[in-house]
Amino acid sequence: MSSVVSAQGVDLGEYRPKFDPPDAHSIPDTPFGEAVKRGQAIFLKTPQNAPNFVGNNMNCVSCHMDAGRRKDASPLWAAYVLYPAYRAKNEHVNTLAERLQGCFTYSMNGQKPPAEDQVIVDLESYMYWLARGAPTGVVLEGQGFKRLPEPAQKPDYVRGEKVYAQNCVLCHGADGQGQSVNGHMVFPALWGDQSYNWGAGMQSIPTAAAFIKANMPLGHGNTLSDQDAWDVAYYMNGHDRPQDPRFNGSVEETQKKYHDAKTDLYGQKINGKVLGADSVPHGGRLRKDAS
Ligand code: HEC
Ligand code: HEC
Repeated sequence: MSSVVSAQGVDLGEYRPKFDPPDAHSIPDTPFGEAVKRGQAIFLKTPQNAPNFVGNNMNCVSCHMDAGRRKDASPLWAAYVLYPAYRAKNEHVNTLAERLQGCFTYSMNGQKPPAEDQVIVDLESYMYWLARGAPTGVVLEGQGFKRLPEPAQKPDYVRGEKVYAQNCVLCHGADGQGQSVNGHMVFPALWGDQSYNWGAGMQSIPTAAAFIKANMPLGHGNTLSDQDAWDVAYYMNGHDRPQDPRFNGSVEETQKKYHDAKTDLYGQKINGKVLGADSVPHGGRLRKDAS
């Protein structure tokens, strides 16, 4: 295990305490418990329970698995104890509310709820309840997504396509669009209009590889080789998705400012197409011009 520097810049050495969140059935029947339950419901069915802020078809739990409880799937209890924190993404100290707002803008391809909105209050209540009894200001075991070592071979689209066909296509579909039954999303989209946008954390290939290795194929985490996880992450993020909300009209400038060519494919040519050049605008069905 390597030394850990906290989000606040404190060197924590190898100290990573273990923590287990409270039993899911133990949410109290109190006014506070009601907020916790609403927060959980928003987390599990986000477009239904926070419709004004979500532009795609995903739920928070699509990536933060087991209702935000699972280790190595960026669990909420581990996140709760790390805020407020400085973030390089926006170069200032973020409150937990601001961190949550970012999830709506990017992962959910939507609009940020005001910090005092009930949606944010309920999500914070759910996180606080999950973290009950945890120490604050430390990186708990299982926080975030467990980074993989650098790949032996450079991640590759064609190899990734094969990994995808063998391990992912069954649920996420040949076109990456996932599957819905009676309008209810069952398997989330990996790219295209209903997926996370170009500003989201998951479009970074190291982050996607880490998530996939630990959590996919569903129910068979940690069965792909590291190389397969890198290759399929590259393949997945080598497809177009909704525009980066920070887009200023120029793919080249947006690429330079926000997309490090070593970690993501925005602005790069894949199969003859520049990714980001023809992206649908940010915002999905929340857009005024969307039907
Ligand atoms: C497409 C996958 C995806 C979806 C959907 C998603 N997230 Fe995340 N989330 C991530 C990734 C990836 C990160 C880590 C980003 C980074 O690299 O910093 C993250 C980080 C977070 C963090 C900070 C974790 C930490 O330890 O600092 C919180 C809190 C969070 N998400 C909450 C939410 C909430 C609430 C929603 C729904 C409104 C949501 N996320 C939807 C992928 C997702
Ligand atoms: C058995 C069905 C199944 C298989 C096979 C599967 N997934 Fe998933 N995947 C899911 C489900 C369901 C979720 C959402 C998890 C949840 O809601 O609890 C998900 C979530 C995801 C997410 C985060 C959400 C999103 O849409 O971006 C990614 C990325 C992902 N899967 C990639 C993969 C990759 C890559 C493979 C192949 C290596 C794979 N999955 C195989 C069912 C599957």
